[in-house]
Parts: sequence; C-alpha cells; structure tokens
Amino acid sequence: MCGIVGYVGRAEAAPILLDGLRRLEYRGYDSAGIAIVDGGHLETRKCAGRIAALSKLTTERPLTGSFGVSHTRWATHGKVTDENAHPHFDASGKLALDESCASTVDVDQKKARLLAAVRAALQQVIGTYGIALIHADIPDFMIGARRGSPLVLGVGKEENFLASDVSAIVAYTREAIYLHDFDIATVERGKFEISSLAGTSGAHQVSKLEFTAEDIKKGDYPHYMLKEIFEQPNSVRDAMRGRLSLEECTAKLGGLNMTPAQLRDVGRIVLTGCGTALHAAMVGEYLIERLATIPTEIEYASEFRHRNTPMTPDTLVFAISQSGETADTLGALRESRRKGFRTLGICNNVASTIARESDGGVYMHAGPEIGVAATKSFTSQLAILTLIGLLLGRMRNLSTTEGSRMIEALEALPEQIEVVLKLSDQIKAIAKKYVDANGILFFGRQFNFPIALEGALKMKEITYLFAEGHPSAELKHGIIALVRPDLPSIFIAPDDAVFSKNLNNIEQVKARKGPIIAFTSGNGAKRLKETADEIVSLPEAPDCLMPILTVIPLQLLAYHLAVELGRDVDKPRNLAKSVTVE
Ligand code: AGP
Repeated sequence: MCGIVGYVGRAEAAPILLDGLRRLEYRGYDSAGIAIVDGGHLETRKCAGRIAALSKLTTERPLTGSFGVSHTRWATHGKVTDENAHPHFDASGKLALDESCASTVDVDQKKARLLAAVRAALQQVIGTYGIALIHADIPDFMIGARRGSPLVLGVGKEENFLASDVSAIVAYTREAIYLHDFDIATVERGKFEISSLAGTSGAHQVSKLEFTAEDIKKGDYPHYMLKEIFEQPNSVRDAMRGRLSLEECTAKLGGLNMTPAQLRDVGRIVLTGCGTALHAAMVGEYLIERLATIPTEIEYASEFRHRNTPMTPDTLVFAISQSGETADTLGALRESRRKGFRTLGICNNVASTIARESDGGVYMHAGPEIGVAATKSFTSQLAILTLIGLLLGRMRNLSTTEGSRMIEALEALPEQIEVVLKLSDQIKAIAKKYVDANGILFFGRQFNFPIALEGALKMKEITYLFAEGHPSAELKHGIIALVRPDLPSIFIAPDDAVFSKNLNNIEQVKARKGPIIAFTSGNGAKRLKETADEIVSLPEAPDCLMPILTVIPLQLLAYHLAVELGRDVDKPRNLAKSVTVE
C-alpha cells in the first residue's frame, strides 16, 4: 500500500522518480508527489489523482536535481487531497519524508546527526513503516528504513535507489538488497551502509533481480490484466516446472524443508490467505482432502489471529499470498509461528516478508503480477496446492496409478489453458450482450464453489457491479429471491459428478426468467441446450483440476465487461495491489 522511490546519482532525478512511481502505481493511486533537492533548495510537486496528473504538473513546473524522493499514495487516514499527498516535510521545510536539523557543522556531522535523529524518532514509532528521507542541507544523501512495509535498496554504478518494490528500479539496475525489518540504510551516490534500528551493523546480501524491465511492460496488450490472463499457460507450467516426478508418480517440493517422516506425520492442515488467495485456499481444502485425505480447513487470515482456533500439534499451516506482504496474512503467519506451528508460505514474491518469515514453502514463479485484480497468481496457487495434495497423498493412500494419472492431467493443463484463451472473443460477445445487467450471480458446486466466489470477486473489483458467489444448492435457501430478468446467473457446471445437481438449479433459475450463462465441459453443452442462454464449452480435466480451467473464462468475462463499461481495469477504484495495512 503506497509506493516510494528514492534516487541519488548523477542523472536528473525527476524522470527516474516519476518512472518508478508509474511502475508502483498498482500499489496505490489516490495522490502522488515528488521532492528534489537542487543547490541546497528542496522543491516539491504533489497533487491528488494519478501519476499522470503529477507528471503534467512537473512538465508545467519542471524540477531539476540529481537526488530526491517520490511517493504514490493509497489513502488510509485522511482524505485524498493535494495537501495529504506525500512527501511530507518537517516544520523547516527542509526535510522531506516519503511515507511516512539544520546547523553549521560539516556535512559528515550533519549526516551523522540526521541519522541519529531518524533512529531516535523511529524508536518511538508504533506500527509499520517504509520510509525514504532527504534533507535540503545534506546533498546526495538519503535515509531509508523499514518495519513491516517492504523497502529495497537498488545498487547501481555511481547511483543508488530506494523503492518499495524492485519493479520501480529494475530498468536502472539488476542488483538489489532487500532490507529487513528494523533496518536503516544511508544511501549515497557511490556507497551505502545498512545498520539496525538499535545501531548494530549486519551482513546483507546483494540479490540479482529475477525479472527484467521487459517483464513488467504491457507489450501489445491494452491492460496488464489481459496480459496476465494470457500468460497463464506459461505461469501454470512454471509453477510445476521440475516439481513432478513421473518415476515416483508424485510431486517434489524441496522448499518445504520437511523430511518425508515429518510430512507423513501431518495430521491436519490450515490454509490461510485473503481475497483471491483465500479462494485458492478453499479449492486447496477440497484438493488436499481428496488427494491426501488429511483434514484441511481454511481460515480468513484476518480472522485467524482473533479466534481461538483449536490446533493439534500435528497441524501444518500454509500462508498463501501473491505479494507476500499482505498485513493480515503476515499477521496470521506470525501468530501461527508464535504458537509453535510449522508455517509454510506459498508466495510469488521471493523476497517478500512472508516468504522470509515462513519455515519453508513453495514459490509460484508466476512472474510479476501488476494488474490489481489477481489472475495468474490464482491459477499458480491452484497448481501448487495440487502438487502439495499429490505429494502428501502419495505418502498415504494415493496409488501409483492415481498419482501418474494426476501428473498426466497436470502436464496437459498449459495446452488446455491455450484452448480456453481462444474463447476470449465468444466471452467478449457475452459481455457486450449483458452490459446492462444489474448485477451477476455466480454458482458452482464442490471444487467450483470457490470459483463462483472468485468469479464474483473479479466482477466486483473491476466492473463495480453487484456480484455474489454461492454454492449452487444455496440458491433455493434464499438467493432465488433475487432472480429476475436483468440479473444473469453464471453457473460453473462442468460435466462432472455433480452436473445433474447443477442442472436442477439452472432449471430453477430459468423457471423464474433469470438469464443463464453456463460454463461447462464434455456433454454438458448438449444437456444445457434447452435451458442455458449462453453456453461456453471448456476442455475436460479431472474434477479437482477443473477450477484452473473454469476460472479463466470468468476472469475474461469480468475483463471484457469492465472494458465495455469503460472502467479503469488495471487500477480499479479504491483498491491497491498489496494491502499492507490491517
Ligand atoms: C484479488 O483480485 C485482490 N486484488 C485481492 O483480493 C488479493 O488477492 C488479496 O489482497 C491478497 O493479496 P496477496 O495474494 O498479495 O496476499
């Protein structure tokens, strides 16, 4: 939530700081600001609205200088106004602080004093922060510090950077240091030093960045979301790469850091996360129970800490998070570890706090996900949860035959996803037809019940339409009262063991003049011909893998409908990509 960028070097800082903000805009886009020091004078431009508004402002009133900080805000406290835009200043107007002493002594003493003042101030701060700070009287010197919010130090030649996320600086450097909680970094053109809030210095590793500036470009796609939807054949393949053993008919997940004996002793699993990651956890619950017959439960990460969830000593906890920075999920992870439970992460961001603080885990390797609406990370999470189910199942009851069937089906997925993506035009036509809908209901059973929730979440996030997901059978327990001709019902009804049950529910809606959009497979299309208004036919897969195929058309439907409605698909109102506040 919120993004910061700092630069100190020899180039003009303004274009670098603005470029960085554009790449961080997914973190928040309520207001933005930039502060640059030139010749001992600190100049700032800030305004409510998108980075484009700030860019216009800096074109009208340019800023020069080769060191400065910039910020893009997602409002938590305080209105979205020019005044509340960051950077913030001290009373003298000489000290600019993103996020969150002047004297006549020489520069080195000033640096030391500023550092001491920042350290003393931060020792009193309660809560989380990620800051970048400059002072008008201390040239080419920045201070960065973090606690709870991510901060990375980009290492360049005769220039260095601070940023909330490497995507802001990946165009300028391939090396970075991921700062830890309670780190304070002093950053200058040709050097940097990292110490702890308490004042001790520690070792830090310079990491090579995993992706390039190319990876975070939209390319020929009009939106990141569409690009990321179309990346799913590869992202699902990458989630499984090197992790399937045909010989042993199982999955290999070295990062779990658990011995086979420890894995066999797992008696209960808790899957936790927020939003889309929670929906993946819900599919995971069905998957792990099916493949490994281990009692599995899901917990809203935000509720986990506040409940007295009964946990047995053999419980294994998974925290699922694309960003690895979601405050609620991090809170659940910390609570679980504090109680002594082995807690593993399923993250996309390898340098994230959740990835670092967990006892082990599985990386998604989905590549950067910029669109605020999560798409490819969801299918990667499902692929990984299937691998976990397969691994644990093969240590228990799952036979070699079932294991190898599962592997075959997993390996077929990327090509099946390609087939699903070819339906984009058909789905676009459906979106056009229902553009005046007054809301949308989503229904599914078993493995596809969480997909109904996920479809509704995507729809709400980017179209702002009222949308709700339910288990199909719940329809008759109340929801059917909503059915009317301007409220389409989407049924995720593959040709599986519960197809006939879904068909009953579809008929109940049809009888009350509710339009039906059905996503099915196999013989489903034939059986739905008389009832459904729209039928989308998907490839066939084992029922536990169908969610990976059924969610993609729902992502596409939300996308096309949002475009038809003229919504800002990649930056939906009020949202931000990673939620680092509670
Ligand atoms: C998904 O479309 C949402 N933007 C949101 O629900 C998201 O999945 C949730 O905030 C969790 O994020 P995380 O995976 O980065 O933890």
